[in-house]
Order: sequence, then structure tokens, then C-alpha cells
Amino acid sequence: MSLPRLPRIITHRCGGSLAPENTLAGLRASISRGYPGVEFDVMLSGDGTPCLIHDETLERTTNGHGRVARTPDAELFALDAGAGERIPRLDEALALCAEHGLWVNLEIKPARGQDVRTAETVAAHLPTLWPGTDNILLSSFSIPALKVLQQRLPHYRRGLLYDTPPADWLHELRALEASSLHCAAKAVSDALLATASAHAVPLLCYTVNQPQAAQELLRRGVSAIFTDRPDRLSHL
Ligand code: G3P
Ligand code: MG
Repeated sequence: MSLPRLPRIITHRCGGSLAPENTLAGLRASISRGYPGVEFDVMLSGDGTPCLIHDETLERTTNGHGRVARTPDAELFALDAGAGERIPRLDEALALCAEHGLWVNLEIKPARGQDVRTAETVAAHLPTLWPGTDNILLSSFSIPALKVLQQRLPHYRRGLLYDTPPADWLHELRALEASSLHCAAKAVSDALLATASAHAVPLLCYTVNQPQAAQELLRRGVSAIFTDRPDRLSHL
């Protein structure tokens, strides 16, 4: 299993803390500072449009109220997502990333009950939006979503995402033909690193904002770090 062009440092939610999360301003911040890779979260709007947002509800990151999955596009894309930014559609975000040669981790973040539909929608659009497969990694906490991607986009690499990987993570990863394991930094143990290394599975971990902690994880064998503070970690 290999992940060509995997950056060691990946900016979390587009721009980390440099801009409102999951916005084009975040992508622009990453681009202007020369950060090579970004992660963002993709959910469906009430009209089924894939867009960049983390929470199922609008309150934390926008001036809207209620559930993303029940908000029509006309309302959703008029909201303020911070500093005058709008919630981006997936097609806009990928176009900007492609234009500037960013490596992308697209995390499928389905609203409850929409795992299959969200993955099906992304799968239907991705070959047009992002035809090459080397600079993109698709990930999800949702195994049903990853199964859809495995069926529909077998040539696009998949990352299996956990908070803490369960004992049978390698079995699940193989069943999904996934290329990488992603987990919370607190779940990185010597045993996990040894198993991942023995089976040549790249381990990516989130969310690490302190340079010393990031350096130590990389030294121990973690392949990449998701961070909100790429400004502190870009030298690693
Ligand atoms: O993909 C890594 C990380 O983004 C997973 O956690 O909640 O920030 O999407 P979350
Ligand atoms: Mg995420």
C-alpha cells in the first residue's frame, strides 16, 4: 500500500486556525503560505449538494440555525461561515485545490442516515471534478460510505478513519482495500505503530498542534499529521 505524494503535514479543515474552518479562505491561506496538503469535511445540503462543513448543525460555524441536511441550497450558501466567507460547494473547493496543485484528503462526513447517499453523490461527481487519483485520498469514519467508494471509485485511494482503532482494524482495512489508517493522536501506541509498519500501512493522525508532539509522532513512524497550526509545523 502506498500513498504517493502524501505530505507529512496536512492542514486540517482547509486552513486550520488561519481562517474560518472548511472555507475557501482557508484553502487560500494554505496556498499562499505554501502548505502542500489540506483536509476538509464533505456533507450533503438539503438539496443533496456536496459542501464543506463539519457539524450536522449550522450554529457553531455559521450564522444559520438547524440541520445542514434540511437546509436548501438557496439558504445554506447565503450563510456567513465566518469573516464573510460562504460555505463552499465541493466543486468550488476542488477546483481551487486543483488550480494550485494541492494534495487533498476529502473526508466524507455524512449527516446521520446519509452515509450511502453522501458517498454515492461524491462518487458520481469526483471523476469529473478530480480525474487524477494520485493527489487525493478519500476518508471517512463511516464504513458504509467507504464501501460505496470501494465499489464506485475503486481506483481512488481510501483512508479508514477512527478515533481509536478497534482491535480488528487491519481486518477492516483489508476488507475495504483501504490504503491508510487515520486516528486520533492519543490513540497512537507502539503496538499500533508496529502493526501498521509490519503491514506497510501509512498511519495518519489528528489533530496535533504542538511542534514537539508532531516531531515525536513523525519520529516514531507516523506518516502524516493533521494540524490546525501548519504555521508552527511547516518546518517538519
Ligand atoms: O480526518 C481527520 C480529522 O479531520 C477527523 O476529525 O472531526 O476534525 O473531522 P474531524
Ligand atoms: Mg475532518
